[in-house]
Amino acid sequence: MTSQTVSIEERIAELKKERNAIILAHNYQESEIQEVADFLGDSLELARKSAEIDCDTIVFCGVHFMAETAKLLNPNKTVLLPDLDAGCSLAEGCTAEMLKAYQDHLRAKLNQEIYTIAYVNCSAGVKALTDVCCTSGNAVKVVEQAPKDKHILFVPDFHLGSWLKKQTGREMTLWNGSCSVHESISRRDLMFLKQEHPDAITIAHPECVDGILDLADEVLSTAGMVAIAKKHSNQKFIVGTEANMIHRLRREGPTNIYLPAPGIPAPGEASCASCVHCPHMGLNTMDKLEACLRDGSPEVVVDPAIVPAARRAIENMLAIGR
Ligand code: 13P
Ligand code: SF4
Repeated sequence: MTSQTVSIEERIAELKKERNAIILAHNYQESEIQEVADFLGDSLELARKSAEIDCDTIVFCGVHFMAETAKLLNPNKTVLLPDLDAGCSLAEGCTAEMLKAYQDHLRAKLNQEIYTIAYVNCSAGVKALTDVCCTSGNAVKVVEQAPKDKHILFVPDFHLGSWLKKQTGREMTLWNGSCSVHESISRRDLMFLKQEHPDAITIAHPECVDGILDLADEVLSTAGMVAIAKKHSNQKFIVGTEANMIHRLRREGPTNIYLPAPGIPAPGEASCASCVHCPHMGLNTMDKLEACLRDGSPEVVVDPAIVPAARRAIENMLAIGR
């Protein structure tokens, strides 16, 4: 075969063999990356998978906190992220310094022990300051098992936290962070879409604002969305999350119809039918995936001083289950 006839997919497969590497990809990655991944999933599935697989290198196609979680669980493996700048608005809104100061303030104000639960969308430094992590897939269970004699501080997602308060009835102090992508879904245009398609089931991610979750028939993690799509055939869904999710759903439930929840239109635009995209997830491309497999970089590293505490918070979560 000449180099001209070798596709990028074939080159990635070859490089993967050379490095004894496995590609893990989040459900929000672009469709081409989803197609070359060895394993696709939500944050919880990918964390679990990374702890189980036998390989030398994990290429994590997702955002930085996800790759960092894989590194914490696999200190002896090389973990690569195609673009190290693939961040997350939730992780950026809650640094370890900010959290430490707030925990001290809250403890003193309440004169009570606090139990900090961190949604995994945060840095390893934040995880190291918490009792347990959760993902959208297991958050209800994690909150339900929190000790009753401690006050819960939930970080960093205010919207997920508000939804959890309603689901569990537990009182919690919520950090004021949010996902800029899920906040960009338009309630007005979602209402119009629901009116146009009264037969559709509306599914939404719990990072959405309350006014979107109110309109949803089911509030689900991305793995929950895959599960409901698989259960149905010839069903119409309105999908309230990042638009690349629809590629994953079509793979798993091909006879269904999936309509992306509309975004808030830009000034001067009438509508924004399929524009809810995570710019951070979008930084990973097929070219960068190939380059990182070829070069063995960029590599995700975690400060050894915080590894034990951050790892414990993730392991506490994994022990609780989905
Ligand atoms: P899931 O764990 O449901 O895939 O969500 C991760 C995420 O970042 C959603 O924005
Ligand atoms: Fe973070 Fe939102 Fe992107 Fe998920 S969709 S990675 S929460 S910015």
